[in-house]
Amino acid sequence: MNTTVPMALCTLAVTASLAMAADAPSIEQGKELFNNPNLGTNGKRCSTCHPDGKGLREAAGYDGGRLEKIVNQCISKALKGKELAPDSTELKSLVMYLQSLTAVGEK
Ligand code: HEC
Repeated sequence: MNTTVPMALCTLAVTASLAMAADAPSIEQGKELFNNPNLGTNGKRCSTCHPDGKGLREAAGYDGGRLEKIVNQCISKALKGKELAPDSTELKSLVMYLQSLTAVGEK
């Protein structure tokens, strides 16, 4: 009987779940990225044009797919940056941050 293969699979599964926990998207990471000039190449950040998410409260109610497209448009056009992969932690975090703006934003 060979026990090597099941052991290796088990180790893989544990490693994968740890990596996912460390990389879980979060509002905090989205907020950090929103203020991070490294998302683009022209020294601007999302907050340059949308300080504290101003003007984005309506967009906070859009569905995730629509927000992902808008965010990538602003990254490529407004920040001259590289679009984020649709399933990346970064893009999911930015969307989560934007969606949080209705709840915590100015009234
Ligand atoms: C150079 C200025 C600029 C930068 C930088 C910028 N945006 Fe925008 N953004 C705009 C403009 C202009 C619009 C379209 C007009 C509007 O709806 O406010 C817009 C629209 C949006 C919308 C949709 C608003 C709506 O009501 O439909 C979202 C969401 C958004 N931006 C998010 C971001 C995010 C996230 C970043 C950073 C990755 C970013 N923007 C960077 C200028 C900018």
